[in-house]
Amino acid sequence: MSTWLVTGGAGFIGSNFVLYMLRTYDDVRIVNLDALTYAGNLENLLSVQDNPRYTFVHADIRDAQAVADTLAAHDPDYVINFAAESHVDRSIANPGVFADTNVMGTVNLLNCCRAAWDDGTGGFGAHRYLQVGTDEVYGTLAIPEALNADGSPADPEHTDYFREDTPLSPHSPYSASKTSADLFVKAYHDTYGFPAVITRCSNNYGPYQFPEKLIPLMINNAIHHKPLPVYGDGLNVRDWLYVDDHCKAIDMVARDGRLGEVYNVGGHNERANIYIVKTIIQQVREVTGDEQVSEDLITYVQDRAGHDRRYGMAPDKIRAELGWYPQTPYEEGIVKTIRWYLDNPTWVEHVTSGAYQDYYERMYADK
Ligand code: NAD
Ligand code: DAU
Repeated sequence: MSTWLVTGGAGFIGSNFVLYMLRTYDDVRIVNLDALTYAGNLENLLSVQDNPRYTFVHADIRDAQAVADTLAAHDPDYVINFAAESHVDRSIANPGVFADTNVMGTVNLLNCCRAAWDDGTGGFGAHRYLQVGTDEVYGTLAIPEALNADGSPADPEHTDYFREDTPLSPHSPYSASKTSADLFVKAYHDTYGFPAVITRCSNNYGPYQFPEKLIPLMINNAIHHKPLPVYGDGLNVRDWLYVDDHCKAIDMVARDGRLGEVYNVGGHNERANIYIVKTIIQQVREVTGDEQVSEDLITYVQDRAGHDRRYGMAPDKIRAELGWYPQTPYEEGIVKTIRWYLDNPTWVEHVTSGAYQDYYERMYADK
């Protein structure tokens, strides 16, 4: 048995990771430490809540005592840090909590693991820490001159991508906080020999994603015939990865990645936002037969401040060293995702009521 402490395991990717690990392995035990912010939802984990290999700890990664107690009680072999404030628009509205959680929370977690894992001889045994990072730390890429209709590069062989040695150049408070967290993790490895590895992933989509992010927001609004707010000219490009592919990458890097290294995770699945929105409209209409779901719902709104133009990952290193590659084509993943949101109206209803409604009205009121 190996024990994995997953922080932020009640969020979108964290809960998918918990489910992925428990269904993939019989010899894995998961401890999920989560503060249950607006983004943390234990309903994501109903199917495993009685699994004897799963434990939930309600705690904050900034709370040194709670983290130390959890490490002492469970002695995890692996710590995977998903816990974060993750939404760029919220970071523009309220940057402070991003510094607190993403930077100071990570530093606290590193300190607690360092103390708990110290073997008295300057080593840390076989323990391993993985920091879940983002491609946003690299800033932005230029849009290539020649594009396919979906916004992907027409000539991928001669196009710029983010690589692990691309200079860090974050633009939003969110990405600045994630960059800072990565640098602390690297510093703990280089200074103390702390057994850490970092992944940096592109945009995820799939079940259990909070509908403040582009894909679930558009699916949910389309189903309810609400306007589909597209920022700016809709031609910003993101590199989309189905969440299970990300989970698999984290598992592989946590076990076999070289300590102190960064691994980019992404799919060569670049799409312009407007293309994503139009495919969602088309797919929702096809699946539901609802003719009112049409491009008339598209509403161009004020652009996001500091909006990065294009993200595009080169996942060559993880492929060469660990054999990882994205297995779910976008066309398949988006249909699975739309069906999941249609099949789970109660989940959507629970996360979109109350406080979320207030947030939504505030966020889009001036756009
Ligand atoms: P999310 O917002 O859906 O979930 C975040 C989780 O962290 C929630 O369960 C929340 O309750 C928990 N959390 C927040 N603050 C906490 C604290 N102080 N202590 C303990 N728990 C806390 O986020 P997500 O989209 O699942 O992203 C998870 C991680 O992956 C983040 O670190 C994010 O930066 C990174 N990431 C996300 C994407 C993406 O496309 N969503 C892509 C690359 C990297
Ligand atoms: O690239 C990885 C990152 O992807 C993660 O690190 C972040 O945690 C995650 O939130 C995501 O960040 P983005 O800002 O790229 O995702 P978001 O879904 O917010 O936006 C995707 C694109 O869609 C972006 O260009 C902004 C645009 N957008 C977004 C929303 C919410 C719209 O046009 N309209 C919208 O209403």
